[in-house]
Amino acid sequence: MAGALLALLALLGGSQVLKAEYVFPQNGQQQMYKLDIGWPKSPEQFTGQTFCVAVDFLHGLVYVGQRGDNVPKVLVFSEEGYFLHSWNDTVEMPHGIFVWNTAIGSSIWITDVGRGKYGHTVKQYSPLGKLMQVLGTPGNAGSSLIPLQFDQPADLFVEETGEIYVVDGDGGMNNRLIKLSDDYQEIWLTGTNGSGIGQFKIPHSVTVDAYGRVWVADRGNKRIQVFDKTTGEWLGSWSGCFSEDGPYSVRFTADYKYLIVAQMNINRLAILAAPPVGSIGDCVMVQSVQLANETKPHLVDVDMRSGAVYVAEIGAQQVQKYVPLS
Ligand SMILES: *[C@@H]1O[C@H](CO)[C@@H](O)[C@H](O)[C@H]1NC(C)=O
Ligand SMILES: *[C@@H]1O[C@H](CO)[C@@H](O)[C@H](O)[C@H]1NC(C)=O
Ligand SMILES: *[C@@H]1O[C@H](CO)[C@@H](O)[C@H](O)[C@H]1NC(C)=O
Repeated sequence: MAGALLALLALLGGSQVLKAEYVFPQNGQQQMYKLDIGWPKSPEQFTGQTFCVAVDFLHGLVYVGQRGDNVPKVLVFSEEGYFLHSWNDTVEMPHGIFVWNTAIGSSIWITDVGRGKYGHTVKQYSPLGKLMQVLGTPGNAGSSLIPLQFDQPADLFVEETGEIYVVDGDGGMNNRLIKLSDDYQEIWLTGTNGSGIGQFKIPHSVTVDAYGRVWVADRGNKRIQVFDKTTGEWLGSWSGCFSEDGPYSVRFTADYKYLIVAQMNINRLAILAAPPVGSIGDCVMVQSVQLANETKPHLVDVDMRSGAVYVAEIGAQQVQKYVPLS
């Protein structure tokens, strides 16, 4: 196999940080991404387990959700890597995070899988960490829509219109995908526990493409399922790329040509070709980025302006930035 090994070990504050990347260009293809070893400038800010990351590309900000006792739960960096501020008020165990940009401003949505008084919720914060909206019934795991109750909501995607897609959840009693209106009413709901068409086992991440399709990382079933965003109708499923490990994340590149899928247990980022409008077919992996052992990439996000990919790694307890090479 044609392969190049690029290993970088950084000694920071006396502790060894995992920063290694194995690159396997396929068929002489150009490598698509390069690790930005200078991001962030102060990695010592990562004091907990870094579960999720979200980019505000309009304002050049990167939000990181981390867990742990007596650690700030949300860290805010500039895209250049400078640490700006943090907050932890009302956040217990962040799982997924999403930046919603509108003409009026930006806000940060977080799914919280905590089991305390703030958990089982999907919450909206101002860029400085002021709580603006709580969906779900804090502290109560449930399966109901009236009142709205989640059980370990895993991830969400918010459209410019304010319509929200939630995958619920990360191993609780629910295995479902819900679309809510901008005033938080159910538009449609799909999915039950199982491995049949349209069923889920741990729907772990969700995103919407530019062609009206909703993509769900159906982690436990080792597949990605695709739905029509207007009706919730099932459109197709990909499983060919996930025999070794299920998909943890779904995020598109800025040009919507590829899907970036983290596979946590094999420490890999799979770069999959996104199909044009029409048949979903099966997945085609155009390239992969092999991370160091025990890095455990959990969720990712893409800067839709610069194309940079940020990877939240639970094992290495850090977020790394990969910049496109072309
Ligand atoms: C918030 O973080 C500070 C340390 O940064 C910690 O002392 C405090 O206990 C935290 N609060 C919560 C509610 O976790
Ligand atoms: C889902 O179904 C499987 C059996 O197919 C069962 O083992 C599991 O406990 C179920 N999970 C939930 C959350 O009901
Ligand atoms: C990484 O993991 C693989 C598979 O478990 C193992 O073969 C290899 O020796 C490990 N590499 C290091 C540097 O630990």
